[in-house]
Amino acid sequence: MTFEVTGRISAEVEALLREPDIGSGLATKRIGNALHLLQVVDSTNDEAAALAARGAPEGAVVIADAQLRGRGRMGRRWASARGMGLYLSVILRPPIQPHEAPALTLVGAVAVADAIERATGLVAGIKWPNDLLLRGRKVAGILGEMAADASSLHHVILGIGINVHQGETDFEGELRQTATSLRIEVGGAVDRSGMARSLCESLDEWYDRFLTYGVSPIVESVRRRCLTLGRAVTARSGDHEVSGVAVELSGAGALVIRDASGRLHRLVAGDVTLTG
Ligand code: BTN
Repeated sequence: MTFEVTGRISAEVEALLREPDIGSGLATKRIGNALHLLQVVDSTNDEAAALAARGAPEGAVVIADAQLRGRGRMGRRWASARGMGLYLSVILRPPIQPHEAPALTLVGAVAVADAIERATGLVAGIKWPNDLLLRGRKVAGILGEMAADASSLHHVILGIGINVHQGETDFEGELRQTATSLRIEVGGAVDRSGMARSLCESLDEWYDRFLTYGVSPIVESVRRRCLTLGRAVTARSGDHEVSGVAVELSGAGALVIRDASGRLHRLVAGDVTLTG
């Protein structure tokens, strides 16, 4: 649902999130079956991990109006000012092996893209594996964190941050050149509760597809939205760095990069910079 905005964000949109606006009548199988709405937390991923460790069910969602220590991937900070973005984490307990868990980041990516499209009509692209871009600028990101031992996965926390209300001047430093928000792209305010509902519904559908059919439909959808394929990239995974052209997504969702010598490198997770 979108609202007309002239100048300031309307009071309705600026208001804190309310549980009934998100949860009442939510017709999902798993996602949002328990909803923990908090005003301020360090990180919704930490709150969700603590709940998961205490046995919270799959599908439980933590949403906060603000994060004091919002985390991005590779130890980066995720700017999380009050009421500006959607900061949401969900507990997943899929019956898969730890090495298969990176696929859940892709589940998150297609779900966020679909939710944005449903709520605003905007078509977001996916920069593999976890960035959602509008007009080449980052509007959302996903941070998947798992608890596992050598052979079994206990749970995955899928943390999702979406820039919703920021205007250009709300972004600091280099984010002014690289980030955007739904408000900027729509040209008007976007209801955060509506966005949270869309996200729960869309995550529910894509996660259900993943559990039923495996990773194939997810990879198919990422391919359709992927901004990385065919581009020159530099990718980092742990201590390993490789530059080349992103040539394909494997059936399991790995990014295949061809380096200058023609050698193929297969990345199951990592951080990618588009260089050309
Ligand atoms: C990235 O693009 O680097 C991932 C950003 C993930 C941010 C979200 S906001 C909700 C959840 N809590 C966190 O601390 N991080 C994720």
